[in-house]
Amino acid sequence: MAKEINTIGVLTSGGDAPGMNAAIRAVVRKAYANGKQVKGIRRGYQGLLEEDIFDLGRSSVGDIMDKGGTILFTARCSEFRTEEGQKKGAEICRKHGIDGLVVIGGDGSFAGAQKLAALGINTVGVPGTIDLDIACTEYTIGFDTAVNTAMTAIDKVRDTSTSHERCSIIEVMGRNAGYIALWCGIANGAEAILLPENYDYDEQRIINDIIAKRKMGKKHYIIINAEGIGHSTSMARRIEAATGMETRATILGYMQRGGSPTCRDRVYATMMGGMAVDLLCEGRSNRVVGYRNGEFKDFDIDEALVMNKGVESYMVQMSEAMS
Ligand code: ADP
Ligand code: F6P
Repeated sequence: MAKEINTIGVLTSGGDAPGMNAAIRAVVRKAYANGKQVKGIRRGYQGLLEEDIFDLGRSSVGDIMDKGGTILFTARCSEFRTEEGQKKGAEICRKHGIDGLVVIGGDGSFAGAQKLAALGINTVGVPGTIDLDIACTEYTIGFDTAVNTAMTAIDKVRDTSTSHERCSIIEVMGRNAGYIALWCGIANGAEAILLPENYDYDEQRIINDIIAKRKMGKKHYIIINAEGIGHSTSMARRIEAATGMETRATILGYMQRGGSPTCRDRVYATMMGGMAVDLLCEGRSNRVVGYRNGEFKDFDIDEALVMNKGVESYMVQMSEAMS
């Protein structure tokens, strides 16, 4: 028989993402709509182990939908990777009456939720990461805002790059995943896109292309470089020396993780947070919410964590044809 849930806990974990607040709001509002109580846990699993737990009333999540970051703060917690830490976390949940937990974060955070589920705490993961790198879902909360923030910034770099007839290398976030780089590369009309998924890119080919395009009268050359490739400043020096074209590196950095979420992020976060609550209320556990083929769906965390996702090769081919 499904375990009845009375109190739902919610935490945000790993890198923050715009839209996490909308997801927290949705968890709280849907839980109250379903007649449940809610407790907030600050700073992810670190806060759980430190018992930084408080009552989240329905009105405490008013006016947060449009705010970037997470009102619950976020953290990384090495102690929670240990069996001891996980057992302690499950005990603390029981002590505070938390019988269902919504974990908003990425794959690492879901691995933590999986461990808690095995220890008897019903858990559901909600995908919150700007990286779009969770395999079971076509959408992760924060990606839309982050990629639009990066795109707008790159447009600005492009203007000055054209005025000075320079090559610009613009580094975007994505340590292991190149979605932001690929989407910006296409949206900003970049000449080259470097993705961590294609780590062995050919720098000489780019150099030859810059020289050829300059001869054709091209005024600028934009390279979008994902964080996972990195080294944009030294790359700029090498390219300038080899091509004779003035080259500058711009690292966009953490500005991509902040800011008010887009409409899409707010709506998806609301649907996903609310659905996580419904799953817990149905007695489900060890699930992760996702969006696939036009539908919000849930997946088993064990299965979700072993799925693989790469950038779409057709998108990569298309971006190459555009440059
Ligand atoms: P993300 O959730 O964005 O992938 P991390 O990989 O940094 O971010 O994971 C966030 C937190 O989740 C970690 O700091 C840790 O507390 C917890 N975590 C990650 N992997 C595991 C694991 N295998 N077992 C238990 N907890 C984990
Ligand atoms: O939020 C995702 C991400 O931006 C990754 O692309 C990057 O590897 C990571 O966060 C870096 O986060 P932090 O510096 O906070 O560990």
